[in-house]
Amino acid sequence: MKKIGILTGGADCPGLNSVIRAVVRKAMLEGYVVTGIKNGWSGLIENDMRILDLKATSGILDKGGTILGTSRINPLKDPPKVKAIKENYKRSGIDALIAVGGEDTLRVALGLYRDKIIRVVGVPKSIDNALSGTDYAFGFDTAVNIATECIDRLHTTAESHHRIIVIEVMGRYTGWIALEAGIAGGADIILIPEMPMNINDICVALKNRHKRGKTFSIVVVAEGAKIDGLDNERAKDKEPRDDFGQPRFGGISEAIARKIEEQTGYETRVSVLGHIQRGGTPVAYDRVIGTRFGVRAVELVKENKFGKMVSLRGNRVRVVDIAEAVKTRKTVDPWFYDIAKVFSA
Ligand code: F6P
Repeated sequence: MKKIGILTGGADCPGLNSVIRAVVRKAMLEGYVVTGIKNGWSGLIENDMRILDLKATSGILDKGGTILGTSRINPLKDPPKVKAIKENYKRSGIDALIAVGGEDTLRVALGLYRDKIIRVVGVPKSIDNALSGTDYAFGFDTAVNIATECIDRLHTTAESHHRIIVIEVMGRYTGWIALEAGIAGGADIILIPEMPMNINDICVALKNRHKRGKTFSIVVVAEGAKIDGLDNERAKDKEPRDDFGQPRFGGISEAIARKIEEQTGYETRVSVLGHIQRGGTPVAYDRVIGTRFGVRAVELVKENKFGKMVSLRGNRVRVVDIAEAVKTRKTVDPWFYDIAKVFSA
């Protein structure tokens, strides 16, 4: 009987368990055995895996996180780790691997595939929605819904206290969460990495809004936003970086709030949403997309189509080369940001 391995790598997100469940169900129907690899690439390096059956994947559809665990390990940096992966992959009898992850995980998958170490199918996940080759990576809609709910809550208290609240959301290099949650939550200013703004212009816009009689404002900022006249303080080289060299963002909202208070005199508070955006129950959309991706990924294994990633184009699940998905980041389109500008301060 043929064996499919599955791993989840990089940042977790809501919807991962729906992919795992779908892969197991579809694979069993097709006569495969499924092995779950623990903690991303670490599980292949350390030979930490277990058979996934119906029992192991029952009752997980509505659970956030990943029952397999995850890690941010980059084995390509370390030849002994690649060697361990090669040996353990062979020893386990896995015929094909389904790698569920974002750009870093899929880049590793592609490297190992090109070196003929694994046969792989990729499944895109990312709350940042920054992967190319797909209109959508699951996890994003849940994150946007959580952030929108938080903005709604912060709106009411900002209004009562006549304050400005700067709300920091995730998004290292792309502002998809800030843009969509900001539009949905009626933000007055949305700041994203793709559209650098000057701190003075932000303050002028807020003052103009207050001149029109508004006594509060909501500013939504992506953690990786670039603001002229401000450092994105936590993203400097001295900050800890993960195995892929990714900096740990967080904290730009504090710097923005200080400047706003200084330049406008309006009382300004900060709320950093952080990992709340990644935790908990996936929304229905992410469960459905995760399920569709999982089923299609098994079909690709059956069709011997490797080095590919399942992808959403419009409402259809399609297939692209992993190489295409990791080539460039999918950044916010200017036309979409222009819509947010209609409602700016
Ligand atoms: O890549 C997804 C993401 O949630 C980013 O938006 C964020 O910067 C990063 O992961 C946080 O990673 P960690 O969980 O390692 O703090």
